[in-house]
Amino acid sequence: MKKIQDLSESDLKDKKVFLRVDFNVPIQLTDNSKQLTETYRIKAYKETIDFLFSAGAKVALVSHVASSFKDIIREIGEILGHQVTFEDDILNPQFNSQLTLFENVRKYEGEQINDSGFAEDLAKNFDVYVNDAFSVSHRKHASVSVITKFLPSYSGFLMAKEVENLDKVINEPAQGKTVILGGAKVATKLPVIKNFLGKAEHILVAGALANTVFKAKGLKIGKSTVEEVEEQIDWNNPKMILPKDIAVSEDKSGETFPEVFPVKDLEENQYILDIGPETIKEFSGIIKNSKTVIFNGPLGLAEIEVFSNGTKTVLDSMIRSGAFTVIGGGDTLALVEKLGLLDKFSYVSTGGGAMLEFLAGNKLPGLGALGYYG
Ligand code: 3PG
Repeated sequence: MKKIQDLSESDLKDKKVFLRVDFNVPIQLTDNSKQLTETYRIKAYKETIDFLFSAGAKVALVSHVASSFKDIIREIGEILGHQVTFEDDILNPQFNSQLTLFENVRKYEGEQINDSGFAEDLAKNFDVYVNDAFSVSHRKHASVSVITKFLPSYSGFLMAKEVENLDKVINEPAQGKTVILGGAKVATKLPVIKNFLGKAEHILVAGALANTVFKAKGLKIGKSTVEEVEEQIDWNNPKMILPKDIAVSEDKSGETFPEVFPVKDLEENQYILDIGPETIKEFSGIIKNSKTVIFNGPLGLAEIEVFSNGTKTVLDSMIRSGAFTVIGGGDTLALVEKLGLLDKFSYVSTGGGAMLEFLAGNKLPGLGALGYYG
């Protein structure tokens, strides 16, 4: 994989650089203005942007986003510490300033169908391609994978850091390694469990993933979030630790405190919304004795204060453990940023789905296109 640091200042001066980033951050509408509720995923690109900027390159920031970059361009500029200009059409770039953020690249049909002709059009106004968007590297999309056929291509600093840290947690000895998985999107987590059954000492399971297991074991889980999955896993494997007690309520709004009891059949109108104190104690004890801990996905409905106890205490146990700690996933990141704890972990991945696919041992198309797999 060719890296950005292989490029010298003379390679970059006045060159037009297509920099694939992932600024797909949540945007909230407040009092008629739009605001970012998570900034980590933008700050994470600063090293690569500063490097290209100082070398005198003209940088096009290209990303997908759920809505539009138009209304948040000033905020992005402030986070990056540079003036950033907004342009609508990456196929006809004007390069009016040194740093330009282009509108959502997924507005073009060719992007998500990985169209080679579209990738060639994307590339035609540029001299160099840099991919720093680890968190979208699991997508076979034109600006992520096939564009590398048309430009000299390099990985950015963030991409290299992501791969290095996630590789490290995969390759550390199994003894003393703990994987903690919660949150929704159960199907994306089962392959991680499969890959780590032989690579970790403990796999701690909570959230919708645990609900799915409870259901598979024949328990009544009321209205708790659950997913139908095809993948078969031996949930009785002793490495797998499921909640022993749960925090339950009929009301998800958080206006009433949940009740705690050992895992049992629930009433039809009840939800499992957090892990209980016995489970927190068990999880924290395992973490305390771990050397490596990987966390993806909250352990309950943690965006609501009264259901966040399990997630917050377990994250705190990770911080205190002295272990090499890696966290990731959109909901986890939003919570940890809100709590001001981002710098307390050894590594915070910008990846959600991409982190899980990498940890599952899958080959990611974005990395493949950069020559990572040889
Ligand atoms: C993410 O939020 O994980 C990335 O931006 C990828 O987004 P996607 O799931 O819409 O491809």
